[in-house]
Amino acid sequence: MSTNTPVNPNKALWEKGDFTRIANTMRESGEALVGALGITSGLQVLDLGCGDGTTAVPEAQLGADVLGVDIAANLVAAGKARAESLGLANLRFQEGDASDLNELDDDSFDLVVSIFGAMFAPKPFDVAKEVVRVTRPGGRIVMGNWIPNDPTLVAQILRISAAYSPPPPERFVSPMTWGVEQTVVERFAAAGIPAEQVSFERDTYTFISPDTPSELLADFRSYYGPTMNAYAAAAADGREGDLHGELEQLFNEQNTAPGGTGTSIPATFLRVTVAA
Ligand SMILES: C[S@@+](CC[C@H](N)C(=O)[O-])C[C@H]1O[C@@H](n2cnc3c(N)ncnc32)[C@H](O)[C@@H]1O
Repeated sequence: MSTNTPVNPNKALWEKGDFTRIANTMRESGEALVGALGITSGLQVLDLGCGDGTTAVPEAQLGADVLGVDIAANLVAAGKARAESLGLANLRFQEGDASDLNELDDDSFDLVVSIFGAMFAPKPFDVAKEVVRVTRPGGRIVMGNWIPNDPTLVAQILRISAAYSPPPPERFVSPMTWGVEQTVVERFAAAGIPAEQVSFERDTYTFISPDTPSELLADFRSYYGPTMNAYAAAAADGREGDLHGELEQLFNEQNTAPGGTGTSIPATFLRVTVAA
């Protein structure tokens, strides 16, 4: 067996930590979002960049036939374990890359959902082409994407982290560009979807935890790949304390839960709906 298999940095980033620790704080918003999608029994759903199934589980609980695809082997395993423990025979998980879904047939899903998932794949034009290809004509694509420069939690974590990290490689396309409406329209147009079939809404995800904001930040620091990398880069520059101070302030300022009752932090995202 070759020992020279090239590392896929996108896969390594998400396998580095344990996103389930963060996903545990996102279950309520995931369920609410899925509840508004009009899912009916037997609907064929692809949940792309599914993680451990925050949205895939409620989709299956509503009776859809769900395939969760994610690049991270550890999250696919976590999703399978959740489906099994919940007795959801209509929920399957497999590894895959949103920018190359070669293992999936054309026109095979009624609904493709990707909540903060496919936005993290490289080659965004390929992502748009692939999700359109696997969606049946008349079907729907729903994406949730963080918005660049938004004042709420996730955009700010990524903005602060970038200031402590080395510049990205040349030709790197920021995942946050999926939060820019005109850019999203261009990507789907290149995949054959006219602009009038793409619509946008601002929506909110709330991170809810019984822990304090500082304890939630500690989870991001230990388990959320992008934040782990930012801390490592800041440490290499002797600036870990500064990064930590900025993030502490951010998490505590954004918390809306009354003092001593845990954490509730709302974060704004762009909900994209595409009529295929
Ligand atoms: C922020 S998490 C969101 C997970 C899940 N959708 C949720 O709402 O909890 C981002 C997810 O996208 C996955 N991901 C990143 N790049 C991917 C790619 N190229 N193809 C498929 N999944 C990818 C990660 O492994 C991770 O599970």
